[in-house]
Amino acid sequence: MWPDKTDGPALRTHLRERLRLPLFVAPMFLISGPDLIVASARAGALSAFPSVNARSPRDLDAWLDRLNAAAAEQPEAAPWGVNLIVHRSNARLEEDLAATVRARAPLVVASVGAPDIVAGPVHDYGGLVFSDVASLRHARKAVAAGADGLVLLTAGAGGNTGWLNPFAFIAETRRFFDGPIAVAGAIGSGRALHALEVLDADLGYAGTPFIATHESLARPGHKDMVTRTDADGVTLSDLVTGIPANFARESLIAEGIIAPDGAPLHRGSLDVGSWKSVWSMGHGAGGVDDVRGTAERIDQLLTEWRAARQHMARPGS
Ligand SMILES: Cc1cc2nc3c(=O)[nH]c(=O)nc-3n(C[C@H](O)[C@H](O)[C@H](O)COP(=O)(O)O)c2cc1C
Repeated sequence: MWPDKTDGPALRTHLRERLRLPLFVAPMFLISGPDLIVASARAGALSAFPSVNARSPRDLDAWLDRLNAAAAEQPEAAPWGVNLIVHRSNARLEEDLAATVRARAPLVVASVGAPDIVAGPVHDYGGLVFSDVASLRHARKAVAAGADGLVLLTAGAGGNTGWLNPFAFIAETRRFFDGPIAVAGAIGSGRALHALEVLDADLGYAGTPFIATHESLARPGHKDMVTRTDADGVTLSDLVTGIPANFARESLIAEGIIAPDGAPLHRGSLDVGSWKSVWSMGHGAGGVDDVRGTAERIDQLLTEWRAARQHMARPGS
């Protein structure tokens, strides 16, 4: 399935060769499902979906079957993965991990915790493990726990964001890790994808631009809100789930979580169901002007990325 995973540079090269562009369509709660994954893989981008988006482990089996069938139909399509939330609050972890192992998902992204629990079973069938991290301490821990690749959550990312500056985070991570690095945080253009390559990262981990696609499971209001929100309209708040995450300010006000002047109204953590009505997005929302097909969005990123590379390669540019 993958070359020697302990050889970081070889794995980076292999991954890049299997993709049309250095893009990872990021997993999003209540947003990513099989349609988004199949469209991303066909358009040449790596992608993953949260296992809990399937309503039950049985539904998850059906989703995984569908993804394996699509991959068998089009072996040249990009690989795909499952996002397992490894936090102890995820009561489905054991069952969803078992389904993931049965389906031999090519890639697993472990989030909200160290990947210890998933690394062994996934490596046993030859799968790849990525771990999302928001600090150098967690990055080191994830590598020690068997992560083959890292997702660096940086300031302004949608969902449970990071805080570090991407220049510092990538450079410092490269001092101890030579495997694949994906970077999350307002990656929404081909120029941004190329900038990551210049910084010696491998993939842009983009969520927000893919909320506003036909294949996303987001509510129409969420899709529309992404198209009319800019970076100033995104607010970091821990009022929704207890974990700091980025949300559209308009949505926090509409749901009575904050007042129009930003004052907190509804303290304490609401349950995860509240993500249905309080809409998360990252600072990159301003770069998304319309709702379109996933393939079209990825093709545009590909064209922009190629142009950015050519531009930078020109002497004197
Ligand atoms: C609505 C929404 C839901 C998300 N849900 C998850 C999730 O279930 N699991 C996860 O690992 N990351 C989740 N994320 C984070 C994304 O995987 C990714 O890190 C982020 O969207 C990248 O930043 P960007 O939105 O600026 O592109 C979510 C992000 C958004 C916007």
